[in-house]
Order: sequence, then C-alpha cells, then structure tokens
Amino acid sequence: MLFSEPVENIIRRRKSIRTYLDTSIEENKKEALNKFVSENVAGPFGTKSRFIFITATKQDKDALKSLITYGMIKKPTGFIIGAVENKSHNLEDFGYLMEKNILLATDLGWGTCWLGGTFSTSRFAQKIDLQNNEVLPAVTPVGYAMPRMTTIDSIIRNSLGADKRKPWSSLFFNKDYKPLSVEQAGRYATPLEMVRLAPSATNFQPWRIIKASEPDVFHFYLRRAPGLKQLFSIKSDLQRIDMGIAMCHFELTADEKGLKGKWNINNPLLKGMVDKLEFIATWIGSNQVM
Ligand SMILES: Cc1cc2nc3c(=O)[nH]c(=O)nc-3n(C[C@H](O)[C@H](O)[C@H](O)COP(=O)(O)O)c2cc1C
Repeated sequence: MLFSEPVENIIRRRKSIRTYLDTSIEENKKEALNKFVSENVAGPFGTKSRFIFITATKQDKDALKSLITYGMIKKPTGFIIGAVENKSHNLEDFGYLMEKNILLATDLGWGTCWLGGTFSTSRFAQKIDLQNNEVLPAVTPVGYAMPRMTTIDSIIRNSLGADKRKPWSSLFFNKDYKPLSVEQAGRYATPLEMVRLAPSATNFQPWRIIKASEPDVFHFYLRRAPGLKQLFSIKSDLQRIDMGIAMCHFELTADEKGLKGKWNINNPLLKGMVDKLEFIATWIGSNQVM
C-alpha cells in the first residue's frame, strides 16, 4: 500500500495550510518524502515529470520566505517543487503526480498548499535546475500546521468558500446527462466522492464526469472558468492540473477498492451538454473492452 492508512481518510483530512509552525521536520520523515517524490515520475499520460523536496533549518527559514511572492504563505519548513516536460497532457500528469506527493505529505502529518499563481517561478526554477524543454507549473509548501488558523487564513478560506464543494448533481451525470445518483454510481460512488473533495484552483471545481452506458466507464471533462487565467495572470493552465488531481483521487480510491482500470484519451465524441466542455480522458474499468 502506498500510504499508512486508506487514501479516503487522507483525502478527507487534507486541506490547504498557509501558516506553519516553527517545528522542524523529523529526519526519517524527510527521507521518506524525499524518496517518494524522487520515484513518483510516471503519470497516466506518460510525460516525464520530476520533483524535489527542499527544506530549511530554523536558521535559514528566511531564505525560503523569499521564494513566496505574495506573502500568503507563512513560515513553511520546506517545498516540493516539480518540473514537467513541455508536451500535450503534461499538466494533467503534473497534477496527478504532485497530488500524490501532497497526499503522502498529509499521511506523514504535514500541511501543504497547492500554489499555482502566488509564487516566483524563477527562484524555484533555479532550485530545480529547470531545463529548456520543461515547465514549472506549481509548488507546495510543506510543514506542520498551526493548531489554530490565523485571521488572514480564515479570510482567504472564506473568500474561496474552501470548505464547500458543489453537490453531486452539478458534477456527475449519467449517459442522458441527468444527475448521477450514488446508487447508479455503484462501486464507484467513493472514487467519485473523492473527486468531489479534491482541491482545485480558486476552488472552482471544474470536473464534470459522465458515466457511460457500459458499466465501469467514466468520461472526465473540464468545464472552463472564464477569466481565471486573466484574473491572476497565471502562467500555467491550472484547470488541467485540477483534472490531473481529480484523476489521482479517483484512481487511488478505485484501486484500494479493487477496481482496476486504465485511462484512455480517445474522445468519445459525445454530443449535447458536453459541447461546452473539454474532453480530458476516459476511465475504463478492467472488465471493459473498448
Ligand atoms: C492547481 C491549484 C493551484 C492553486 N493555487 C493557489 C495559490 O496560488 N494560492 C493559494 O493560496 N491557494 C492556491 N490553491 C489552493 C486552492 O485555493 C484550494 O485548494 C481550494 O480553495 C480548496 O481548499 P482546500 O485545499 O483547503 O480544500 C491552488 C489549488 C490548486 C489545485
């Protein structure tokens, strides 16, 4: 097993942490995370990613502080930094892999926070020695969370509605585009619920999933947030990262329930509601031949 407890518990426990304690990270846990991130390189679409975990001692925390541009993140103990090849489907792969790193950090007892807009790319690029054929879409701070949230953190969370998620009826649909019920989802109800609880840029929750008429087949679509890119002058397409995160939650949870399957990028060319959506991938349960 990848984690020390069911991934469902870890997904339910994870939330974005923006202020950290001064406590250092234990050496054995640091090594565990280092090993995990360096071996976590194979995403579902096969683009090459690589990750490093950097930490600071109590004395040189100021050096880490200078890596954050807009000051929303306070006193991180370390960062996970990732780079991915500049190819199609790279951001979905990146989201999938970085989220696995984040779930492992959560399993180890640490807080994290996806940062896709509010960081200085060039300083992190130096740290990971970014190559010409690579991009650096996002990073996450890592560290022990403050036991009580600061006022600023509460304001940020409230403004994003970070504790809220859209209902099933807005996210998951059957082949007739009617809301999918938990009963219709069957054995896939928990993997879908774990998608619903995933983090997403500005908590927009762009995942739309359509269950095909065949059992165990789910089409993953992206609903674009108009203006998101302009709003934060964001460098990467964060919503494709969101889709990779959703695929990670879905696959890890399905796998723990013994539901094996594969991702397929052939567009099923559905019509109707999906005209306003972007197709990303289809999950095909292993008892399906398509
Ligand atoms: C791809 C991505 C980029 C994000 N970028 C930022 C960011 O730049 N700054 C920030 O404070 N939070 C960022 N977040 C965190 C989201 O705001 C957060 O996940 C969402 O509000 C839900 O809250 P939760 O993570 O506590 O469940 C990002 C999340 C994702 C998935």
